[in-house]
Amino acid sequence: MFPLVLLSCSLLTFTGTVNAQDLGVPLTWREFSNSRLLAERISIAKAAIDTILPQLDTSDAQFNGIGYWQSGNVFSAMANFDHLAGTNTYETQVVNGLNTAFSLYSNFDQFGYNDDAMWWATAAYYGYRAYGNQNLLSMAIATWNHVSQYVVSAADASSGSQPNKNFAIAGSCYGETMAGGVFWRPTADDTGINSITTGLYVTLSAFLAETTGDATYTNAAILSAKWIQNLQINANGIVLDSVDGADCTRSAASWLFTYNSGKYLEGLSVLKDVTGDSAWTDLMTNIAAAAIKSSAWEGSNGIITEGASPSSNNDGVGFKAIFIRGLDEVSVRSSDNSALQILIHSYNDVQYNALLELAANGTSYSSSWPGPPQGFTTWGQLAALDVMVTAINTNSP
Ligand SMILES: *[C@@H]1O[C@H](CO)[C@@H](O)[C@H](O)[C@H]1NC(C)=O
Repeated sequence: MFPLVLLSCSLLTFTGTVNAQDLGVPLTWREFSNSRLLAERISIAKAAIDTILPQLDTSDAQFNGIGYWQSGNVFSAMANFDHLAGTNTYETQVVNGLNTAFSLYSNFDQFGYNDDAMWWATAAYYGYRAYGNQNLLSMAIATWNHVSQYVVSAADASSGSQPNKNFAIAGSCYGETMAGGVFWRPTADDTGINSITTGLYVTLSAFLAETTGDATYTNAAILSAKWIQNLQINANGIVLDSVDGADCTRSAASWLFTYNSGKYLEGLSVLKDVTGDSAWTDLMTNIAAAAIKSSAWEGSNGIITEGASPSSNNDGVGFKAIFIRGLDEVSVRSSDNSALQILIHSYNDVQYNALLELAANGTSYSSSWPGPPQGFTTWGQLAALDVMVTAINTNSP
C-alpha cells in the first residue's frame, strides 16, 4: 500500500561522536526566548487543558474529535502539568480516565495495536510520577508485560521465529540483528515493526527500570534501544519509521516524523541515567541536535510545520507534541550540558511564541503552529498541550 524503498546499510552508519553536532541556536529562528514568569506559564498551560476538557466523555475516557492514542496523550499532558507545576489539579480526571480505559480495554489495547497500549501505559506512568498512585504504576507494568510478548528476543532472531507470530521472522536485516524490535500489532500474521512502538517500549522500560531498580526492564530498554540505534537512524541522525519483520522492507526514506525521534530521545534520556553509560548520552545529544534543526519538519524560522491540519484530524497532528515532550525530558536530564538545555528551551520558546502569537484564538490553538488562528478543534488543542505544559519548566524564574 505504501511506497517502500530499500536502503542499503551504508546509509545507516550514523553513530556520531559527542562533538559532532552544533548545539548553537540558529539566529534565523523566530523569537527563541520568552520572559513570561512561572505563574503566567502555569496559567497559560492550565487554560489550554481546561479548553479541551469539555470534550472528555467520562464513560469511555475519550475526547470527542480525536483518536484513541491521542486521547491517551491528553491524560499524559494533564499528569505532566501537575508533575511540573507541583499541583494535583487534574488528579481525579487522570486517575478516573486511566481506570476507565484499563477496565474497558485489556492492557489498554482497544483495537489490537501495541503502540496504542503503550501510549496509555506511558500516561499511567506519568500519572504515577505525578501522584504516586501505585494502581497507575500497576497498569503500566501489566501493559509492559503484555507488550513484551511481541518483542523479538535474541533467541527469536537466532531461530527465525517468534512465539506469537505465525510466519518466519527476519532474524537480521541490513546486517544487523532484529533483536529488540517490537511488533506494531499483536495480530499473529502482522509483520510490521516500527520505531514508535519500539521507542515507546524503550521509554516505558527505562522509566520502570528507574522506578523499580529491576534489571529486567533495564536489559529490555537496552536491547530495544540498540535495535533503533543499529537499524533506524539515517545519515542525518533522524529516526526512521518502520522495517518489515518478515522481509526487511523499509518505510520510504522520506517518512520522517518528529515523534519517532522524540519518543526515542525521551527513552535515551532515562536510559543514560539508569545505566550511567555515556554512549547513550552521546547518541541522545546527537539525535536531539539533528532533530531540532531538521529541515524535514521546519523552515529557517524553526516553527514546526508537520501535522498542520485546520479542517480534519489525522495521526500526524499529534506527532509534534510527542517530540516537544521528549525534548523536555532530555533537557531535565541534561544539567551537565547547558548548551543542549539552551538549545531545547530556545526551540520550545519558538513553538510557544508561535502558538501564542500566530495560532491562538483565546485559549484555543490551531494545529498549524505558524497560524493563522481558527475556531477550536480538539486535535489542534491536543497538539498544543505539551508545548504549554513543558513551558512551565523551561526558562526562569
Ligand atoms: C475564534 O473562535 C471562535 C469560536 O470558535 C470562532 O467563531 C472565530 O471565527 C474564531 N476566530 C478566528 C479569527 O478564527
